[in-house]
Amino acid sequence: MASLSSSFKAILTLAFLIPLMGSSSAQLSTNFYSTSCPKLFTTVKSVVNSAISKEARMGASLLRLFFHDCFVNGCDGSLLLDDTSSFTGEKRAAPNLNSVRGFDVVDNIKSAVENACPGVVSCADVLAVAARDSVVILGGPNWNVKLGRRDARTASQGAANNSIPPPTSNLNALISRFNALGLSTKDMVALSGSHTIGQARCTTFRARVYNETNIDNSFAQTRQGSCPRTTGSGDGNLAPLDLQTPTAFDNNYYKNLVNRKGLLHSDQQLFNGGSSDSIVRGYSNSQSTFSSDFVAAMIKMGDISPLTGSKGEIRKNCRKIN
Ligand code: HEM
Repeated sequence: MASLSSSFKAILTLAFLIPLMGSSSAQLSTNFYSTSCPKLFTTVKSVVNSAISKEARMGASLLRLFFHDCFVNGCDGSLLLDDTSSFTGEKRAAPNLNSVRGFDVVDNIKSAVENACPGVVSCADVLAVAARDSVVILGGPNWNVKLGRRDARTASQGAANNSIPPPTSNLNALISRFNALGLSTKDMVALSGSHTIGQARCTTFRARVYNETNIDNSFAQTRQGSCPRTTGSGDGNLAPLDLQTPTAFDNNYYKNLVNRKGLLHSDQQLFNGGSSDSIVRGYSNSQSTFSSDFVAAMIKMGDISPLTGSKGEIRKNCRKIN
């Protein structure tokens, strides 16, 4: 009887452990490459540093690449695959076309990493480290990046079109896109704080600065100055997402929202009389609360459906499968 109950216990224990072992992010860890590629962090940082010193905006572009990778079938480097005659990747999906940038810098990082430790580090992990380094270099918080993702051998233009929220989204749509990936409203508001750096094209904010009423008048006029009313004219003209400090990772984005100076419709949705107002107000008053919530949300976003173990591959060139 005693032995029956102990084998029953063992079965119960296994039944509990097996699903945990199989859980998708169980294998990501902050020391994943500590023996196989000890120079990983210094190598990535030095390439990101020189790219940002040439052009400060590049930090924003690298951070956004990580977001657009993770939201489409998980953080698996799928965004980085180039189209070929027989393969359509994500680069030409609506949220990415003429918009995402930084692929040359990712190539430079990947070659430097391949020089240091060939065939070891995935492109998906390169994006995760480059995003963190960009935030740190531009004055934002630091954190330990979880690693061990592998690279997809496929990509999905359709999933890119369906998963990345457009700037025309209202608050409910934003909340549900993030919830679908296990990210809370608080995570969504904290991650949107990434718009404290970087630029947007006139085509993404034209309707807001000409037609909306929940916008500061003089701010709308300033932005109209470099974004002609007529569709098709000046579509690619750029404006900073944070009008105050577009190359500093701080909480000014939230102060702008409180003052009705969000650039995108989706930005101002976070402070428009709805359920996220209090989170925005909190971050606008406390850089440190924003920083710690941002870090927690970045780690959560980085955990979305990674390929681990023997799934996928370690791409040699981030633009094509091996
Ligand atoms: C909440 C939903 C979001 C929407 C609707 C959204 C939308 C946009 C749009 C329309 C642009 C300008 C693109 C262009 O004009 O080419 C942009 C830029 C940017 N986004 Fe988002 N975004 C969202 C969330 C995020 C998140 C979660 C991150 C990062 C974690 C992020 C990081 C950035 C950065 C850094 C830029 C500037 C990129 C650059 O200057 O190259 N965004 N976003």
